[in-house]
Amino acid sequence: MAKVGFYKDENVVPLEMHKVRIVQKLTLPPLEQRLASIQGAGYNTFLLQNADVFLDMLTDSGVNAMSDQQQAAMMVADDSYAGSSTFTRLAAKLRDIFGMQHFLPAHQGRACEHILAKVFVAPGSVVPMNYHFTTTKAHITVQGGTVEELVVAEGLAVTSAEPFKGNMDCERLAGCIQRYTPGKIAFVRVEAGTNLIGGQPFSLQNLRDVREVCDRFGCMLVMDASLLADNLHFVKTREEACRDMSIRNITRAMADCCDILYFSARKLGCARGGGICIRSEAHYRAMRGLVPLFEGFLTYGGMSVREMEAMTVGLEETMDADVISQGPQFIGFMVDELVKRGVPVITPAGGLGCHIDAMRFVDHIPQTQYPAGALAAALYIAGGIRGMERGTLSEQRAADGSEPLASMELVRLALPRRVFTLSQVLFAVDRLEWLYKHRRLIGGLEWSEEPEILRFFYGRLTPKGGWSEKLAQQFRKDFGDCL
Ligand SMILES: Cc1ncc(COP(=O)(O)O)c(C=O)c1O
Repeated sequence: MAKVGFYKDENVVPLEMHKVRIVQKLTLPPLEQRLASIQGAGYNTFLLQNADVFLDMLTDSGVNAMSDQQQAAMMVADDSYAGSSTFTRLAAKLRDIFGMQHFLPAHQGRACEHILAKVFVAPGSVVPMNYHFTTTKAHITVQGGTVEELVVAEGLAVTSAEPFKGNMDCERLAGCIQRYTPGKIAFVRVEAGTNLIGGQPFSLQNLRDVREVCDRFGCMLVMDASLLADNLHFVKTREEACRDMSIRNITRAMADCCDILYFSARKLGCARGGGICIRSEAHYRAMRGLVPLFEGFLTYGGMSVREMEAMTVGLEETMDADVISQGPQFIGFMVDELVKRGVPVITPAGGLGCHIDAMRFVDHIPQTQYPAGALAAALYIAGGIRGMERGTLSEQRAADGSEPLASMELVRLALPRRVFTLSQVLFAVDRLEWLYKHRRLIGGLEWSEEPEILRFFYGRLTPKGGWSEKLAQQFRKDFGDCL
């Protein structure tokens, strides 16, 4: 990372090592329009129209800013159906970075999960992992498997000084494999930059320890590398033994621990697509047939060749410490500003975004009334800011219809890489501070329409007791005729 000094300590801010040359106009709709929009969206931020959103912090998926080099590469894509040189370039880049011989393309991360689950998960199989992601768990359970979450205890502590809250508890992993017997373990999965618990990383040492357990029991190790870029930054900056390693060397050391590595290129590589890197010929052959069946021919896998070219460049740019540090540094800044103002957030800052702890923010709302969902809706009303609920709403009901309560109730404010400015971050901090002051005005939500699968994407809810109007009245009182 470039070490740039500031003359005065109080001026120290994360400094962008890029300049912005394409911009998109934004508008902040007036409060009354925001209220109508969230009502129209069934209090589900996924259902808002982007035209009604000021700062879209829903996700980093497919919305990171591309570099000039990525855009330039898109112009020279080879769009032949089979044997495209665009694919050859991408596969060679992946081989160069991760050192795995084989690559299967897929249209995005969940498509990789679909293929992995179909091939390796059977009824009764178990997939131990540090923590689940929504689509991963859904694919495993659809195949009749179950997920065992073995993140270290600190991983679920909302505030902590532990630098690697995404670490797997290796003792519990060994115990889990013994309990179910190695034959029942489809594979062990590690998720870089654990999405649902605040974008928290695991250390290289932990990954090596997980590998050792897998070797002891003959289990396959699969890494979900979708959020690898943030994890690499944290290994470099927080793991003493890795301080002098290049990002490229850390990446290779991590990949060397794994048998298979898959990713959503909507995140890793700042493009749109995905793929599976595979070490062994046997595993490659076991999965290969599903690509033409579900995705597309083996040399595009459902992706646009232009996106594949952008991905090849984006993956190389991920090896640059300056490039991958921008996101985590902005997130760290936002977290620090919120902590200063007493707003409850996950600490230490992780990757992907800033995570507001709804359990403490709106501690008067029971989990069965979706505090994080309610807070996400309230933040949209307060500032036109679109965040994402990552709590009980994002869970699936059990087969008997009961509702598992999430271990954490978070509102994730994603900071897609190189997209927002520091003043926009400070605007979000300011509206959150106001909302925190008036948090008792926020109430719970209840379902008006609850889909069976991945309900958080398109389910609709209503506010209990009409709290949203009262919040809007308070806004008008405090902000006058301002937007
Ligand atoms: C860790 C992780 N795995 C898998 C996925 C699924 O990827 P996609 O959205 O490209 O299907 C995501 C997406 O957010 C993710 O964060």
